[in-house]
Amino acid sequence: MTILRILTAPNPVLRTTSKPVKKVDDALRAFIDDMLETMYHSENGIGLAAIQVGVHKRIIVMDLSGEDAPKNPKCYINPEITWTGEEVAIHSEGCLSVPEYYAEVERPAKCRVKYLDYRGKEHEQEAEGLFATCIQHEIDHLDGILFIDHISSLKRGMIVKKLNKAQREKAQAHTI
Ligand code: NI
Repeated sequence: MTILRILTAPNPVLRTTSKPVKKVDDALRAFIDDMLETMYHSENGIGLAAIQVGVHKRIIVMDLSGEDAPKNPKCYINPEITWTGEEVAIHSEGCLSVPEYYAEVERPAKCRVKYLDYRGKEHEQEAEGLFATCIQHEIDHLDGILFIDHISSLKRGMIVKKLNKAQREKAQAHTI
């Protein structure tokens, strides 16, 4: 297995739309295993979308079991929200592609998601709590949306400015 490089904002690849997976085979499962390893290797990562490692495929991995519990790796291929409830919930969200920033995001508290599993079998499942937040956050990634798009433009502007500055400093640090 391989630990993949996670892209960070403002990388334009994160703003592109991912394509549906046509076939769930061993090669795809090997990539999913790499995504999981990358997520487990990251700091506090509980979800990761393929586009965050630069691959335009509609794949999400997730583990919501918490640090002290046994691992519970999950993958969602071609996930689709088929229903959202009217009630909303606010969670403090962060993202491996927007490091060190957290913001309160309002989303539907409950939703239903249809997806293919690691073996290519179709499921439809109701989500609430952290799972509902996480699956919506990750599906957003597949459509080029970041959690900062859901917060006020003033706050987003501040974060984007800092991310741009950090990127410039990083680029300069390599030009010796
Ligand atoms: Ni994210």
